[in-house]
Amino acid sequence: MHELKIGLLGCGIVGKGVANILIQNQQLIQSRAGIRLTLKTVADIDTESGRGIPLDEGVFITDAFKVVDDPEIDVVVELIGGKTIARELILKAVDNGKHVVTANKALIAEHGNEMFQKALEKGVEIAYEASVGGCMPIIKTLRESLIGNHIHSMTGILNGTCNYILSKITDTGISFEEALGNAQAIGFAEADPTLDVEGFDTAHKLTILSSIAYGMALNLKDIYTEGITRITPMDIEFARQFGYRIKLLAISKNNGDSVDARVHPAMISDSNLLSNVNGSLNAVAVTGDAAGDIVLYGHGAGMMPTASAVISDLADIARNRLSGIKNRIPPLSFQPDHIKTLPIMPIDEISTHYYCRFSAVDSPGVLSKISGILGQYGISIKSVHQKGRKTKGSVPVVMLTHLAKEADIQRALAEIDGIDVVNEKTVIIRIAEEEELE
Ligand code: HSE
Repeated sequence: MHELKIGLLGCGIVGKGVANILIQNQQLIQSRAGIRLTLKTVADIDTESGRGIPLDEGVFITDAFKVVDDPEIDVVVELIGGKTIARELILKAVDNGKHVVTANKALIAEHGNEMFQKALEKGVEIAYEASVGGCMPIIKTLRESLIGNHIHSMTGILNGTCNYILSKITDTGISFEEALGNAQAIGFAEADPTLDVEGFDTAHKLTILSSIAYGMALNLKDIYTEGITRITPMDIEFARQFGYRIKLLAISKNNGDSVDARVHPAMISDSNLLSNVNGSLNAVAVTGDAAGDIVLYGHGAGMMPTASAVISDLADIARNRLSGIKNRIPPLSFQPDHIKTLPIMPIDEISTHYYCRFSAVDSPGVLSKISGILGQYGISIKSVHQKGRKTKGSVPVVMLTHLAKEADIQRALAEIDGIDVVNEKTVIIRIAEEEELE
């Protein structure tokens, strides 16, 4: 009987999901893959963590290093997370000639170049479908289904926590802090939500997608990253009045000799598919020169959706093994000698449309002062709205701009925020360019 023996490292939420699918759907998977996927060992330091999973005596152990050193194990599934022990275990497994499946986006984004190089040298695979978008097969889509396309751009909602919080503020008008508390209470946000709400988790995922799509080395450090902590119900309400919704977007465009890749809250038209992706759901829109637009939509996190992606990687490895194939698909989709070092544009160099909310004194001449400074920096105003009168000595004045350069906006706002009729730091939210999204 053909068999692939699996060692699972980490039996938390996703680990349990993987174990359960491997046990409950074993026959189904075997009937498709043509090879039996057997969970040989599960390692977790918490001896209680395997509770409820129908594992045979001796399958559950506490020492993960025993798994990566076990000569009988063919594939190691790393679901421990973090960048230290997980990295050490993966490198050891690779060194020992084992394939690896991981959901660890931070590790791939930061250390993937080095880890993939080592895996290629050893003739093993590091598969990572579960690292981006949970159950959505975005990595398989980019690496395999769209192989004939130049990928022009990708726009994604890749963090369920942020999408849940923004949807909650949009639906109820509560503050960011309240919405975060709500997300934490129902288990959608971590006790320390920094990775999610500051946009870092999304940046890890965008780093991975940009590399696969454009054939560039993984480059997390140059991706501009801004989270959702400063988004207010007032800005969401203004956005609604202008026909937009606010989402934390991962935006990536291939300009040929550089890449525009960034993570920040953005306004998108309420007629756009992505603006209707609500709650903890994820979606990613990809534009290729042959395929045109494709949108994937689904659960980007959680036990079973993420486990589903892990199993898909395991089945690929099993099928390759059955056919005697190694490294059929290069880790970052392009052959290693075709991976380029494409620069990522600094945020100052991007051009987009802007929503600016000024907190200004409500008196004659204020608008002309603000618009005068914008004009000095070549920023053209598309529309101006002032709703209501004074709130705490100032009134919100909202301007939408035509296409403007980020550096000019920042210089203009630094000047505007210094004038006596402006009371608070101006809020800006970039508006995703409609032509790319619709
Ligand atoms: N914390 C992530 C999210 C899931 O909220 O989408 C794992 O990447």
